[in-house]
Amino acid sequence: MPFTEYINLSTSLGIMVSREASQSSWRRNIRKGNTTKPSPTGTLFLKDPTLYGPLFEQSKTIFDADGDDYSAEKRSIQHAFTKKSLLTKEAILTFYVSSAIEGLESQFRTADVVDLVPIFGNALFDIMCKLTVDEDLHAINPNGQHHPAVYTLTSALEWIYIPVMARHILGALSYPLEMCASFVGKGVLHLGPVGPLLSKRLEKGGSNPDFVSYMKQGKQEGEASQLQVINNATSLIAAGTETTVSLMCGAVYHILSNPPVLLSLCQEIRGAADNASDLNLELIHGMKYLRACLDEAMRMYPSIVGTLPRVVDGDGAYICDQFVPPNTVVGVNQWAAYRSNRNFIYPDEFRPDRWLNVEEGEYNGDRRKAFQPFGYGPRKCIANE
Ligand code: HEM
Repeated sequence: MPFTEYINLSTSLGIMVSREASQSSWRRNIRKGNTTKPSPTGTLFLKDPTLYGPLFEQSKTIFDADGDDYSAEKRSIQHAFTKKSLLTKEAILTFYVSSAIEGLESQFRTADVVDLVPIFGNALFDIMCKLTVDEDLHAINPNGQHHPAVYTLTSALEWIYIPVMARHILGALSYPLEMCASFVGKGVLHLGPVGPLLSKRLEKGGSNPDFVSYMKQGKQEGEASQLQVINNATSLIAAGTETTVSLMCGAVYHILSNPPVLLSLCQEIRGAADNASDLNLELIHGMKYLRACLDEAMRMYPSIVGTLPRVVDGDGAYICDQFVPPNTVVGVNQWAAYRSNRNFIYPDEFRPDRWLNVEEGEYNGDRRKAFQPFGYGPRKCIANE
């Protein structure tokens, strides 16, 4: 079904779209997959293995692990994402952001049209490599082109729907495509330019606390656990890069297209610091209008547009007062939820003010709870803070 029709259908039906689970081998394998303890905030549904099938051979990652394996993965890495821990990374963020801005300024001096996607992509990839393995990939470059690793990752994500569709249609017969997907995962990152960085990091040990050092804590030495660390590190680099690049591109596009918004944002930033070099994480954290612009950008242009599917388990469940039988695949499509006028007034307009003074004024009828760009429940984004 074309995307626009899908969106029209889901907005007219409401925010939930469901379809009957087929009886493929993938389905039969879902029992008790990807569970954690139910969240006090809602019912726990399992991740649908049609989308969350293994990307790498031999070892699962935080994305597709289940049960106790998942809990162990999550425990090991979640400390890296506390505010306290992230504040210790300020120097890294400042360094790469400044380098990217220098590159951007030099592009503006020499080119009529500047493509921001590779510039943001390279910067984010460098940041993610540094945070994950404390190594520098040097993706940021003065010519404004994608670094080959970033280009390959971006292209691979565009093609990932092929093995996913094969799981839908062919079930177990999709094995050759599974091999392709696994090859993409390995080829793109393990064996591509990131591979040597990972190996170097694992051989030499780390001097600074990076994500790998958190993952290695409490793990036994050995090939299996080494592979698990590599797979998780690879997944984190990929997950952190593409989502954030999307957010930044969407935000810049909408802010530049709305001059009054741009003006208010500039006033807030210039009011907080005299020089760009005085800006720091604490000041940025206190910028309410900037935060509203980012939230509004994620509403208008969610990083994850597709539906993230979950499977109704057990005896079925009631969703929006409707009984949904077990084994039904359900999910919220962020784009549909955020562009529906049932949830937001002026849904197709970029209005950061809707996130400020929420109790009064024309936006007080907005259903802000529908806005969950980082997911909902125990499997929501680890980096959501
Ligand atoms: C704007 C940026 C981001 C957005 C919008 C975003 C969004 C999401 C969403 C919607 C999920 C839930 C996926 C699901 O339900 O299956 C998720 C999961 C996850 N994200 Fe993010 N993400 C962002 C940035 C990041 C970054 C920077 C990292 C890592 C450095 C990261 C790591 C993860 C991980 C590890 C999970 C899996 C959590 C679990 O299964 O317990 N994300 N993200």
